[in-house]
Amino acid sequence: MIGKVLYRFLAVAMALALFGSVAHGGAGDIDSAEQSSGDVAANADKNPYTGDETAIKEGRKLWRKTGCYSCHGGVAEGGVGPSLIDDEWIYKPTDKTLFKTIAEGRRGTVMAGWSKELDPDQIWKVVAYIRSLYQGDPDKIIW
Ligand code: HEC
Repeated sequence: MIGKVLYRFLAVAMALALFGSVAHGGAGDIDSAEQSSGDVAANADKNPYTGDETAIKEGRKLWRKTGCYSCHGGVAEGGVGPSLIDDEWIYKPTDKTLFKTIAEGRRGTVMAGWSKELDPDQIWKVVAYIRSLYQGDPDKIIW
């Protein structure tokens, strides 16, 4: 009787140990993929480039090259599209929402999706540029 319980216990313990090492190996893979694969950047909740001067400069180039300025203005002050530098937003301006808006666009509006022109890494750089232009209430910064 006790032998059987002990056997079960050992079997479970071994299964857990095995699972632990597999899970650990998996996490390692994700870590290394993060540096190279855009897919991981796309799944991030937070912009890895917020405040990064080099990324902001690249984001500004992409902003001009992609033509965001034609609707949002040269420094995102607003035009056909809304200003992106004040603290009035259509939706709660989390990093994820901005990313999704730029990648997929807003259905039923002229805001198109840009995932064919910009890869996830570039989208985050554009978001970093937009954040760098912010002139709204500092207390309303949620990113
Ligand atoms: C053809 C005009 C047009 C272009 C070009 C354009 N946008 Fe927009 N954008 C809009 C409009 C209009 C909205 C408002 C959509 C809505 O009503 O939800 C918008 C919304 C947004 C928002 C969300 C604003 C909010 O308050 O929620 C972001 C961020 C944004 N655009 C970024 C960009 C970026 C980055 C680019 C370039 C890659 C770009 N847009 C290109 C017209 C444009």
